[in-house]
Amino acid sequence: MAKRIDISGLTAYYGTHKAIEDISMTVEPRSVTAFIGPSGCGKSTFLRTLNRMHEVTVGGRVEGKVMLDDENLYGSGVDPVSVRRTVGMVFQRPNPFPTMSIFENVAAGLKLNGSYKKSELGHVVEKSLKGANLWNEVKDRLNKPGAGLSGGQQQRLCIARAIAVEPDVLLMDEPCSALDPISTLAIEDLIGELKERFTIVIVTHNMQQAARVSDRTAFFNLAGVGQPGKLIEIDETERIFSNPSVQATEDYISGRFG
Ligand SMILES: Nc1ncnc2c1ncn2[C@@H]1O[C@H](COP(=O)(O)OP(=O)(O)OP(=O)(O)O)[C@@H](O)[C@H]1O
Ligand SMILES: [Mg+2]
Repeated sequence: MAKRIDISGLTAYYGTHKAIEDISMTVEPRSVTAFIGPSGCGKSTFLRTLNRMHEVTVGGRVEGKVMLDDENLYGSGVDPVSVRRTVGMVFQRPNPFPTMSIFENVAAGLKLNGSYKKSELGHVVEKSLKGANLWNEVKDRLNKPGAGLSGGQQQRLCIARAIAVEPDVLLMDEPCSALDPISTLAIEDLIGELKERFTIVIVTHNMQQAARVSDRTAFFNLAGVGQPGKLIEIDETERIFSNPSVQATEDYISGRFG
């Protein structure tokens, strides 16, 4: 079930380095929110704080609050592993498990959770591959290695793996940056379909992509090298790209810096 994310006063560190500072925003359910901003402004860091992956990095530390509907993901007693099941992630480079078949790749998350019945596995794998618009291309080779697919297919395989466990939120960090234009459009179409069921956040350097796929866009920036990244503004995508409130946003989207 898609859930709303409500972030308040979020600051994240790598050791003593403050990477992002005091970010507050709401991410609406059943919609796509795009994160844009220059390299190093903390988009990936921020994304990883939303499923408690930031703290996996040595020295990674977070202050602030991330509410998923009415649960604080940083509340005491919250299990980070279950958070990562609820808030799934798709990475920049497709990362199917190299030694596993297509079928096993999709089933992997379910098996880790132990939250499946063996008799249902085939059904869930098929449903997830269909959900990722990959089924027709792989249904006759489910036992072949996932690594044998094209880059675009591998990325859809990773999306199938992520949605198989029925998360509430899907985080995507530049999911198309390693893909050709056709595969990119396939993923963008897919994102448009998935937002009916999930809350989606996508980091992208591609302004056209942000404009095409997202409902809301958040612009992040940093004052200088070594300074923490900050949220500059978040608004309807149409508004950010036509009439942003802040000059720096306009400069960025029109390619004047970054
Ligand atoms: N593992 C790490 N250890 C230490 N510092 C890190 C680490 N990862 C990122 N940083 C620092 O945190 C800041 C934000 O980096 P981050 O990768 O979140 O930016 P980004 O906006 O995703 O950039 P890009 O657009 O290039 O992907 C940068 O100053 C970066 O050097
Ligand atoms: Mg990044």
